Amino acid sequence: MSKLIVGNWKMNGTLSLVDAFLDSINEENIVIGFPDLFISYAHFRNKKLKIAAQDSSIYDEFGAHTGEISAKMLFESGCEYVILGHSERRSSSQSDSVENILKKLKNVIHNEMTAIFCVDENYEQLINEETCDFLKNNLEKIIIAYEPLSAIGTGVVSSISEISSALKSIKEKYFNIRTLYGGSVNSKNANDILSINEVDGVLIGGASLKLNELKEIVKFS
Ligand code: PGA
Repeated sequence: MSKLIVGNWKMNGTLSLVDAFLDSINEENIVIGFPDLFISYAHFRNKKLKIAAQDSSIYDEFGAHTGEISAKMLFESGCEYVILGHSERRSSSQSDSVENILKKLKNVIHNEMTAIFCVDENYEQLINEETCDFLKNNLEKIIIAYEPLSAIGTGVVSSISEISSALKSIKEKYFNIRTLYGGSVNSKNANDILSINEVDGVLIGGASLKLNELKEIVKFS
């Protein structure tokens, strides 16, 4: 089976870039994390492209939560995946706590999507006992994306042996869960990274905004 190639556009992109991607991506193992506003448009224009959201609300029920977007809304808009707990959302300004990440994981699974749960080197602090139990019971619907802080957006990718041993420990600790590596992945290093046994796919930030890069990377999957 091909490995999963997930793009995270963050707060980047235009509708014309969305169009360019929709016109040329046919690979079934590519998922694009568009900004929320582009999701419905992308889905209803090309139902074949798999879409991720970059976050979801802690609230599951409709209600007076100004500015929030629920997992149910994301599902209805065409999302199949939701990226959760990205380090940029865990940073102090966004305050994605361990407790809130668990609420979001539950909402995403409850609404029939797959969660891409981002962790860094300190993953044991991000996965408490309750979260660990939840992972154990929902292994089919959760993927852990291991993204070392030093590698995100820096161009400094971790070494192959570091990636391999980190993902090996994660799989050993968390019931052989599926894992992605993220942090400065591009078309030059993707072949080596995707060849690692423990790597079930990659989470790509900057390079996922360039169609040619993505097309090169997917060749190694
Ligand atoms: P990067 O971002 O590929 O630009 O390093 C990865 C991420 O933030 O998921």
